[in-house]
Amino acid sequence: MASGITRRTALGAALALAAPHFAFAQTTSSALVCTPGTLTPRLTEGPYFKPDSPERSVLFEPGISGSRIVLNGLVLDSAGCPVKGALVDLWHADGQGRYDNAGYRLRGHQYTDASGRYRFETVAPAPYVGRTRHFHIKVQAPAGPVLTTQLYFPGEPGNARDGLFRKELLLALSPDAASGGFDFVVATA
Ligand SMILES: [Fe+2]
Repeated sequence: MASGITRRTALGAALALAAPHFAFAQTTSSALVCTPGTLTPRLTEGPYFKPDSPERSVLFEPGISGSRIVLNGLVLDSAGCPVKGALVDLWHADGQGRYDNAGYRLRGHQYTDASGRYRFETVAPAPYVGRTRHFHIKVQAPAGPVLTTQLYFPGEPGNARDGLFRKELLLALSPDAASGGFDFVVATA
């Protein structure tokens, strides 16, 4: 994660220079849209996390098995206001339930935009022995602690048999399963 922290610090410095412009705009919009929420539950990291993933939004590559899916949403603070510049680091199995532990296939991180949005183009992970279908993800506001958690798919038969499953971490899946949405609520200090 060392390189991610370095990049985030650089980004924070760039935003600070622009602060007078952004401050009024964010205050105005936040007053209209912020709704306080409960912090997103933490879950175990599991054995397959690797630091220093590439910064990118497209994890899909030709030859990777699995159905295409867009994973997207917002990072919010506990007041429900968007967090810009939050680190979002995603890693998961492919469509055959396999992780790439030698390289960085299906691994990547990005930073939320000024509206707190993130978006990954990837494939739906397959279940593997002992686990229902899931994404692994870490989310960190610029000055906040790292939230490590997992996201789940609704309607999976394996959900009820997986001791780590939590319904609070279910994706909002589109009817065609082409996109899954999840908004994170994270501590910011
Ligand atoms: Fe996993």
